[in-house]
Amino acid sequence: MRVMPYERTMIRVASPSASLDVQSSKSSQPSGGLYFFLGAIVILLILLILLFVFRKFINPSKWKTFFACTRKQPVAKDILSRNLHTISWFDFQTLKKATKNFHQDNLLGRGGFGPVFLGKLEDERLVAVKKLSVDKSQQRESEFLAEVRIITSIQHKNLVRLLGCCSDGDQRLLVYEYLKNRSLDLIVYGKSDLFLNWSARFQIILGIARGLQYLHEDSHMRIIHRDIKASNILLDDKFQPRIGDFGLARFFPEDQAYLSTNFAGTLGYTAPEYAIRGELSEKADIYSFGVLVLEIISCRKNTNLTLPSEMQYLPEYAWKLYKHSRLNDLIDPRIREDGIVEKEVMHAIHVAFFCLHPQASSRPAMSEIVAMLTCKVEIVQTPSRPIFLERKGKKDEKISWDSISEALPSPLKSDSPSYQHSK
Ligand SMILES: Nc1ncnc2c1ncn2[C@@H]1O[C@H](COP(=O)(O)OP(=O)(O)OP(=O)(O)O)[C@@H](O)[C@H]1O
Ligand SMILES: *[C@@H]1O[C@H](CO)[C@@H](O)[C@H](O)[C@H]1NC(C)=O
Ligand SMILES: *[C@@H]1O[C@H](CO)[C@@H](O)[C@H](O)[C@H]1NC(C)=O
Ligand SMILES: *[C@@H]1O[C@H](CO)[C@@H](O)[C@H](O)[C@H]1NC(C)=O
Ligand SMILES: [Mg+2]
Repeated sequence: MRVMPYERTMIRVASPSASLDVQSSKSSQPSGGLYFFLGAIVILLILLILLFVFRKFINPSKWKTFFACTRKQPVAKDILSRNLHTISWFDFQTLKKATKNFHQDNLLGRGGFGPVFLGKLEDERLVAVKKLSVDKSQQRESEFLAEVRIITSIQHKNLVRLLGCCSDGDQRLLVYEYLKNRSLDLIVYGKSDLFLNWSARFQIILGIARGLQYLHEDSHMRIIHRDIKASNILLDDKFQPRIGDFGLARFFPEDQAYLSTNFAGTLGYTAPEYAIRGELSEKADIYSFGVLVLEIISCRKNTNLTLPSEMQYLPEYAWKLYKHSRLNDLIDPRIREDGIVEKEVMHAIHVAFFCLHPQASSRPAMSEIVAMLTCKVEIVQTPSRPIFLERKGKKDEKISWDSISEALPSPLKSDSPSYQHSK
């Protein structure tokens, strides 16, 4: 296959000299010796030109790497060359070297799917390497590669790019672009001194909404993220948000995917109908988005049991303040000092309340949320009381399912959505 371009050059080079040959033979007296002589010169010329072209356009090191690649092709290379034109295949040794043998110093964090390491490739590029903690028997290599290809094909400016993968023995690794400003939890939960003003925070909220809209509605396949939370929102050097870890559930068996991902840690973000009944739809992501918006505005974690009891659960606390017309208290004091457009913040809190609606079907779709945030849609109805999961007691970190199940409305009672298009 690779020889094709050179064949084409050869034809192009050969044709003008061939016509020259015909012209000269017309004017001169034909003789066998001359024909032979001319032919030899033409062939010599062609050879010289070819040699020149080769030298100039084909860099010798390229040839070397090409041959090297073909020699140590892994088994999966076959599938790779057929299906995975868009993704790169990383060698395990390369990644091992890039992350200094998965050294503790390079550990960025550890999530439900496995640890993440910072790596530096030979070309100085920084990457985040995620070591998946999958049991190899659960997914064949070809299936793994097929899933990687699907995730790689989903690209948007508000989604973290998957650069490639590696499958070596028991190891399954995913290589992502590294985002310099890490994840939103470091900023929102006060682990870094960095302060973001309201306009930066609003851009983050809007960017997340757009990324989710793409996953839910606009990409070529419907993807429910399932794990929207502050640590999965990464920030680039201009503080534009990118959603990470989408599609990871594809690497895990269906029934394990939602309970195994350090569920308790993510509990405050999980929509009750998903946590209790396992009902999964885009609306579960919308719920998590609502929690995240409140976190970004108030700069605190959704659940903090060290706070006074009425403040422990962020959605509940926000609702109490709303009922007492004191929503101002929810806003991070630092952005209040910064001088904000209060109307805009209130607007965002209202949108968050719609996302936290107890009934999944009454929560707005992501495209509607984007429209509301950008003021293309007027909000006409007042929000209803948000629903949330509650942890009872600090000692046994158990979830009180009973009280929540009662609080969940039956799917039969359905109100109409609480917003209206303005023209
Ligand atoms: N592409 C990346 N660039 C920079 N930092 C990253 C990147 N991916 C992950 N991180 C960092 O690594 C940490 C751990 O990520 P990981 O996804 O394993 O855990 P998590 O997001 O807390 O949980 P989950 O497994 O549910 O996603 C994150 O908190 C983030 O700060
Ligand atoms: C975030 O990016 C900005 C701009 O590149 C940089 O100045 C800042 O140090 C970064 N912050 C962190 C916490 O990495
Ligand atoms: C908010 O911060 C960004 C950078 O983080 C800056 O460019 C912008 O001017 C700031 N806006 C206001 C209103 O201070
Ligand atoms: C919980 O709240 C306390 C008191 O405001 C604060 O010091 C602590 O950092 C918070 N914990 C988390 C995990 O946000
Ligand atoms: Mg993550």
